[in-house]
Order: sequence, then structure tokens, then C-alpha cells
Amino acid sequence: MRRPIIAGNWKMNKTIEEAVSVAVGLKRKFYTFSEADIVICPPFTALSKVSDKIIDSSIMLGAQDVYSEEDGAFTGAISPNMLKDAGCRYVIVGHSEKRALFGETDEDVNKKLKIALKHGMVPIMCAGERIEERDNGMTFEILEKQITRGLKNIPRDEALRIIIAYEPVWAIGTGRTATPQQAQEAHKFIRELIERLYDKEVASKTRIQYGGSVKPENIANLMIQEDIDGALVGGASLDVNSFTEIVRNAVL
Ligand code: 13P
Repeated sequence: MRRPIIAGNWKMNKTIEEAVSVAVGLKRKFYTFSEADIVICPPFTALSKVSDKIIDSSIMLGAQDVYSEEDGAFTGAISPNMLKDAGCRYVIVGHSEKRALFGETDEDVNKKLKIALKHGMVPIMCAGERIEERDNGMTFEILEKQITRGLKNIPRDEALRIIIAYEPVWAIGTGRTATPQQAQEAHKFIRELIERLYDKEVASKTRIQYGGSVKPENIANLMIQEDIDGALVGGASLDVNSFTEIVRNAVL
């Protein structure tokens, strides 16, 4: 049985004060909560302060990105040590916005996964097709390419720590959620791919989140699908009440 994991990706939103306010609100709702893992991913500037607030609760902290080097002359970049120092255990890697807007490649994703794993972090690796790729029947091909290249030369024992997020680009921020059937079909393909790349045990243990316009109203029908183990939530994670409802409805 895979433990559900609901993560909130706050993207480029919230000042430190605003982020702390949401974190404190969530902590009140989930001071002790054992039915799912809950992760919030504020912007870099708010990580440390948010960490101080949630440290003794069941909410865990994640970052939205990491750079693939230990330290040095990489202006604007954030290293795994800095993230851990700020209290992060999770890190999102390969989000479609990083791929589309900042030119992140599958090779970059592979390097970032490796350094995050080396530092004992739990990466959430994103993959997903664009609308024209889906319309051209290329969804599985794109997923296979992104995931196979992303996981290149990552040993089995480390792969066991990785969470995969299926995020169809056409569903992100559009209000157009994938149907539970569309999502399940992609998740099943991903699980079978993990089995081909590793083995049955890794495939059965890997948690696969769905992301793309997840809301309190649609999470339950997604979560009942066999291969959907959680959600990576954007817009609806910015508000205490909607994120709380999503977490609660996910474990009904
Ligand atoms: P939305 O939930 O706003 O569609 O964003 C999804 C996402 O990109 C999470 O990483």
C-alpha cells in the first residue's frame, strides 16, 4: 500500500509574511495527521521562516528547484546544502515551467535528481505532455523520453526514493483537469515504465502524483484510481482552506 502524498507548489507567489501565514494556518489544521504525507513548497525566500513554523508539525517542507552543483560561481542558483540548511527534505525537479520557460532539459533533470539524491533529499520529478503532443498521440512517447532520460544511471536503491508527478502541461493552471481515466492511463504507463527500467518492486513502491488543476472538488475521483498516489497542487495550494480540503478529500 503506497502512502498518499499531497504537495503544494506555491510557484512564484507569496512574500515571507504571507507564506508564514499560510504555513501557520495549515499547521493548525494538520498538527497531527497520519493519513498522508503533506508537503509545501514555498518560494526560496520563505523556506527558512516557514521551516521554523512547521518544524514540530506533520507538514514537511520542499523546494521548487535545485541546482546540479555543490557550490561555486553559479549566480542565482541554489544548492542542495542550502536547501537542507533551510529545512527542506523534498525538492521538485523538472517542472514543466522550468522546462518551457527556463530551458531545462532532460539532462539537467537527470543531474539535479542525482545531486538531490546524493544529499539524501526526496525529489519530486515532473513529467508531462503538451496539448499538441497529446493531440498527436505522443503522450506515452513523451513520458517515456522524459522519465527514461531523467532517471538515466540512477541506481535502483536511489530510484526507490523518487516521487514522480504526472503533470500534463495542458492541465496546469487552465482549470482543465485530466479526467480520472486520462490520468490513470498515464500513471499506469509510468508504473509499467518504472518496472521496465528497474523491477516490479520499485514499480509497486513508487508514488506517482497527478498535477494540473487539482481542486477540492476533483481530488477524490482522481485518488480512487489505482495508480494515482497523490497530487502536486499549484493554485489551489495557495489558500489554507482549499489546500486543507484537498488533503482531507484525498484520504476520504
Ligand atoms: P495548478 O494546480 O495551478 O494547475 O498547477 C499545477 C502545477 O503545476 C503543480 O506543480
